[in-house]
Amino acid sequence: MSITFIKSQNTFYLDGKNVTYAIWINDMGYPCHMYFGDKITHDGLKHTRTGGRASRTATPPGIDKVKYSYQYYLPEYSFFGTGDFREPAVVVENSTGDRMCDLLYDSYEILSEKPAINGMPSMRGGETLVLHLKDKISNIGADLYYTVYDDCSVIARRAIIKNGGENTCKLFRAYSFSMGLPGNDYNITTLHGGWACERNMETIPMHHGVVSIDSKRCSSSDTLNPFMAITAPTTSEHLGEAYGVNLIYSSSFVLKAEGVVSGDTVITGGINDFNFTWKLQTGESFETPEVVIAYSNEGIGGMSRAFHDAYRNHLINPRFVNKSRPIVINNWEATELAFTEEKLRAIVDSVEGTGIDTFVLDDGWFRVRDDEFCSLGDWKVNENKLKGGLKPLVDYVHSKGMRFGLWFEPEMVSEDSDIFRARPDYAIGVPGRPRCYTRHQFVFDITRKDVRDYIVNTINGVIRSNNIDYVKWDCNRHITDIYSVGRETDRQTEFAHRYALGLYDLCERIINANPDIFFEGCSSGGARFDAGMLYYFPQIWTSDNTDAEARTKIQYGTSMAYPLSSMSCHVSAVPNQQARRVTPMKTRADIAHLGATGYELDTTVFTKEELEEVTRQVEDYRSTESLILNGDLYRIDNPFESNFFTEMVVSKDKSQALVCIYRRHTNANPDIKRIRLCGLDKSKSYYVVERDVVASGAMLMNAGIAINFKNEDFTTVVYHIREFN
Ligand code: DGJ
Repeated sequence: MSITFIKSQNTFYLDGKNVTYAIWINDMGYPCHMYFGDKITHDGLKHTRTGGRASRTATPPGIDKVKYSYQYYLPEYSFFGTGDFREPAVVVENSTGDRMCDLLYDSYEILSEKPAINGMPSMRGGETLVLHLKDKISNIGADLYYTVYDDCSVIARRAIIKNGGENTCKLFRAYSFSMGLPGNDYNITTLHGGWACERNMETIPMHHGVVSIDSKRCSSSDTLNPFMAITAPTTSEHLGEAYGVNLIYSSSFVLKAEGVVSGDTVITGGINDFNFTWKLQTGESFETPEVVIAYSNEGIGGMSRAFHDAYRNHLINPRFVNKSRPIVINNWEATELAFTEEKLRAIVDSVEGTGIDTFVLDDGWFRVRDDEFCSLGDWKVNENKLKGGLKPLVDYVHSKGMRFGLWFEPEMVSEDSDIFRARPDYAIGVPGRPRCYTRHQFVFDITRKDVRDYIVNTINGVIRSNNIDYVKWDCNRHITDIYSVGRETDRQTEFAHRYALGLYDLCERIINANPDIFFEGCSSGGARFDAGMLYYFPQIWTSDNTDAEARTKIQYGTSMAYPLSSMSCHVSAVPNQQARRVTPMKTRADIAHLGATGYELDTTVFTKEELEEVTRQVEDYRSTESLILNGDLYRIDNPFESNFFTEMVVSKDKSQALVCIYRRHTNANPDIKRIRLCGLDKSKSYYVVERDVVASGAMLMNAGIAINFKNEDFTTVVYHIREFN
């Protein structure tokens, strides 16, 4: 990786693993986006753009005869009021009430140590270019940060807005980036969904005007993920150019692709400016969240692999990212809130010897939580259910050689709780207006430090006094009634971003302050599955929908940006609790084993044979776990478009691979299914264990392999592949 400035060209080149990003400071002093794509030489890029039509466009301020109107160049950070009519990245209201802004290049720095973002998660490492831009009249500055990495094909970007003027100003928009792409013949793929159907894929053609996705929920949300892929119409899963944009952010966001008048496309986004302002006093700065932009010329699959490498190498907690994961038995689908200590001990006893190594006690262990109407926020043990507290159960689990995990919902508070009765102002709500409920609960106002202190002290107290090894951090509602008691009236619209900052502060003080404990993220299933959360949680509960058929789509969509190891996937009972579907145990395990696997069902009713099957599954999972943790993912069959779901993971050294092929429905006279493997080394010989076949990588990738399915619905075939010497 390297960052080069060629003075004679006034151009910066940022070279990552397989990519180059180039920025030209044009003759008027505006940073122009020139290139992001496959690695190129540093010969200058002016020949890549022509003048175009100049007539009747606004000139930059004070220049009558323009050489370059805004239309001619693609922005690195667009702004409003002075002639650029494209989606601005920043809108700032000056103390005079006008919203003029003219951000000209001032200077640059190259940093070998990447500075962290104040109070927000971000990628670690890499080499960073900082472009300092400034409006000479208002003295508002924007520092644009660009980081490149030698081990992944992404660029990480963010901005810092600085008020260097003499008066307070107000931000109405502060996105993280703008980036141009030549032409507008693109498809846009986004991930939409809802509870139990997270991250469905949707692809639409780009048009003139703005394609926009957002969340207004103070959460990244399950309705739209902060991810967008931009691909050429000819791009497929395996071939062609693909760009991906993913925010490291967990609150209300927006991402936009705009087809602009020059026939180009401009991508921008960051914190959602809906219901957002931020007051910036003299000398103050505002830091935007980071965005990761990936590029691949190996199709959408290559783009995903670029994100996976970036997140495994630079985002997810290095302490856990490559480590063998806990294999849990979670009691939620087995008992929900209606458990007894005897039942829990029986579940623990039943999995002894299977290799399942962690018992997770889910919701319902505190105060009088026998239904969903009460007790959130109190975090004191329900002694009717757990006599003598948590400790005896924790000790029992430990005595079996297992780890103990505990569920919390730190951000939430029930109306029927001691803490709400004592401090109703701790819950988000507008004084004088009744609050909205979701799942019968309210949300703590974690924008307030005193509220965060209460949460941190209570939760850290339970964790530390009970020898907890694992925490599942849930969050079962999104935010309405936006208001923070005690904050000035003209700062109430800072709430959504302050919620993110409050959440990250909680994570720092609970997760990072307990470095040996493994924390799993969750939000009503996968309603907050984003790169911001991944910085703290090495894995996140992907969906409450544990039906194997539904999971093929959910996991396929999630893998667009997020690595397999980040997806918590459990084997559950049939008929499935959410979908009521019956699928074979083998299928449920094979699909769950394409992530951080676990079990979530009543194993006390299992026969000896069923427990033996679990033991074999766990053993098998452990034997290929390094592929799930570190391998390259190749998606072969897309369940959104076909009767099949096929994923293949190949070790980085191409010596080992795992393929899982799932067929939804069988037919009386089914077609012969053949798959061509991916990602192997053409010249190596491989042994396909289950087929007892030795063949070259070239053979397996070109001629492929025919699959023998059982003649039943929802069936899987798994092949283990090893280099053959
Ligand atoms: C929602 C989660 O997704 C479930 O796994 C479970 O923890 C429940 N909340 C408990 O209330």
